[in-house]
Amino acid sequence: MIGAGLMGHGIAQVFAVHDHTVTIFDANPKVLDAVRSRIQANLHRLGEDASALDRLRICPALEQAVAGADFVVEAAPEDLKLKRQLFAAIEAAAPPAAILASNTSVIPITQIMAELADRTRCLGTHWWNPPFLVPLVEVIETQWTAPEVVARTIALHQAIGKTAVHVKRDVAGFVGNRLQHALWREAIALVEQGVCDAQTIDTVIKASFGRRLAVLGPLENADLVGTDLTLAIHRIVLGAIDSRPYPSPYLEKLVAEGCLGMKSGQGFRNWNTEDIAALEARVTRHLRDAQRHDTAENPASSP
Ligand SMILES: NC(=O)c1ccc[n+]([C@@H]2O[C@H](COP(=O)([O-])OP(=O)(O)OC[C@H]3O[C@@H](n4cnc5c(N)ncnc54)[C@H](O)[C@@H]3O)[C@@H](O)[C@H]2O)c1
Repeated sequence: MIGAGLMGHGIAQVFAVHDHTVTIFDANPKVLDAVRSRIQANLHRLGEDASALDRLRICPALEQAVAGADFVVEAAPEDLKLKRQLFAAIEAAAPPAAILASNTSVIPITQIMAELADRTRCLGTHWWNPPFLVPLVEVIETQWTAPEVVARTIALHQAIGKTAVHVKRDVAGFVGNRLQHALWREAIALVEQGVCDAQTIDTVIKASFGRRLAVLGPLENADLVGTDLTLAIHRIVLGAIDSRPYPSPYLEKLVAEGCLGMKSGQGFRNWNTEDIAALEARVTRHLRDAQRHDTAENPASSP
C-alpha cells in the first residue's frame, strides 16, 4: 500500500481483515506512525476482530515496501506528476509479476502508466470512501492491460468482499465519478442560476430519487418508467441542463474566496463543529446499516 491517508489506510485495512499481509509506505512519517492506531480504532468502531493488525507491516521506504509484493496499490495525492514518479519507482523495485494499481479518482490510468516498461500488468482500482464501508471497486482496464491481470484483480477484490466491476475503457473519471460529477455540475448550476439554494438541492435529492438510488439504478429506473417516457423527457429537458465543459464560475469564486466547505466553515453552506459531527455520524450509521443488511442477505461477504 503506497500512501496511507484517508483511502490508503482503509484499503490496507480491508486487505488485512481478509487475511492478506499488507506492507504500508507513506512519505509522511507522522501518517505512517499513526496508521496502525487509525486502523485499530476503525476495527474497534466496526466491532471487528483486531487480529488484522498482526498482518500489517509498516515500512519507511517505498523500495522495501514493494519488494515482496504480489499486488501494489497506490493512494498518494491526486497529482499526475507525483503518481508517474511513484510508479517509476514502484516498477523498479516490485517483483516483475506484481500487479500495479492506482486508486486515482479521475486521472486516466493510461496517463499515469504511460512511461512504464511493462504496462501489461498495470490498471486502476478505484475504491470509494470509506473503503471498509462502501462496497464498490472499479477495475479499470487500459489499452495495454493483459486480460488475465484484469481477471485476477477482479477475483482478488471479490474475495475480499468488494463489489468489483470491470471498466473496459480508461476514460477520465471512469464510471462512478463521471456519473457523480454530472449530477454535481447540474446541482451547482441550479444554485448559480438562483433556481434554489444549496440546502434545497440536497433536500430534493435525499427526499426523492436519492432514497431509491441504492436499490434502483438509473437505467433500471428508465426501463421501469419506459424508454419511451425517458426519450420524451430527454427531448424537453436535456437542452436546459448545464453542459459547460469547465468548472462553474460560481465554484471557482467560492474557492478563490476561501470558502472551502467544512474545512473552512463555509462552502455552499455554513458549517459548525456540531453540524459536521452530526453529518459524519449520520453517513457512517447509514453505511454501516447498509453493510449489515448486505451481510445478512449474503453471509459469505462478511469479513
Ligand atoms: N478521498 C476520497 O474520497 C477518495 C476516493 C477515491 C479515490 N481517492 C483517490 O485516492 C488517492 C488518495 O486520496 P486520499 O483522500 O487518501 O488522500 P490523503 O491526502 O488522505 O492521502 C494521501 C497520502 O499520500 C501520502 N503521500 C504524499 N506523497 C507521497 C509519496 N511520494 N509517497 C507515498 N505517499 C505519499 C500523504 O502523506 C498522505 O498520507 C487520490 O488519488 C484520490 O484522488 C480519494
